Amino acid sequence: MVTIYFSGTGNSRYIAEKFSKTMGCENYSIEENIDFKKLINSNDTIVFSYPTYGSCVPIIMREFISEHKKYLRGKKIIILSTQLLFSGDGARVLTELLEDIDYKIIYAEHFNMPNNICNLPIFPNPSDRRMEKYIRKANKKIEKSCANIRRGIVRKRGFNLISKYAGLYSQRIYFKGIEDIAKSDVRINEECILCGKCVRICPMHNLEDLDNRIEQKDNCTLCYRCVNECPVKAITVLYHRKVQQQYTGFGRRGDTEDVIK
Ligand SMILES: Cc1cc2nc3c(=O)[nH]c(=O)nc-3n(C[C@H](O)[C@H](O)[C@H](O)COP(=O)(O)O)c2cc1C
Ligand code: SF4
Ligand code: SF4
Repeated sequence: MVTIYFSGTGNSRYIAEKFSKTMGCENYSIEENIDFKKLINSNDTIVFSYPTYGSCVPIIMREFISEHKKYLRGKKIIILSTQLLFSGDGARVLTELLEDIDYKIIYAEHFNMPNNICNLPIFPNPSDRRMEKYIRKANKKIEKSCANIRRGIVRKRGFNLISKYAGLYSQRIYFKGIEDIAKSDVRINEECILCGKCVRICPMHNLEDLDNRIEQKDNCTLCYRCVNECPVKAITVLYHRKVQQQYTGFGRRGDTEDVIK
């Protein structure tokens, strides 16, 4: 078994790492420069962990799956998707990318985690106490999932018809339209000090440091990493309200530069 994850701001990374540690398997970010074909081919169970955006799989993870789909033929798959409150079928929706190959879902679970859209006032950053509660709950769910998997219990969260249509009609059909516009709408205000951090940490290499400005290449995956890590809160995506307090990642892990190899 091997875990492969994408995490914009640390939540899905936490789940992936904790799950892998409990199951005793290896754990890799899709941003790592490794041979994923070889990695997938040498394991019979592949665990995917990723955040859900408007009941959709992030563009970066969709691209990863379509590039590696052929190697997933015949594999057992476990899906661990993270969300703030509700995605309906955030775990199931990844399987829409695997339609024409054989595979077997042996477990799928949703994990409610803190909001990483830090400039959305209705969901403020969690207090330390609330964060501890999130960690406790997530740890408990991971323990339970691992115990179930070991006993051969199959759970497929988000796979029933109600979840599917809840995800589709409450979020996905609207988000797909928003995503298309937002992926080329990164905004940087005059407070930018041209430190280049957003360029270095962007998982899509969407940002470019030109002489005296940061340019975008219109392929933002809306991960909110740059928004949460800009030292002067000068950059916004999707929702352009001024950033007050940044989200520094689950378990207060902070900076993502250490995971980009
Ligand atoms: C663009 C975007 C859209 C999101 N949409 C939803 C959503 O529809 N439902 C939900 O519960 N959480 C939503 N979230 C919250 C994230 O899924 C959640 O915070 C996730 O755990 C972040 O994972 P990460 O830290 O691994 O990037 C959204 C976050 C972003 C950035
Ligand atoms: S991280 Fe912020 S300050 Fe640094 S270059 Fe990007 S937008 Fe400018
Ligand atoms: S521009 Fe920012 S939000 Fe968009 S993919 Fe890059 S780091 Fe993520």
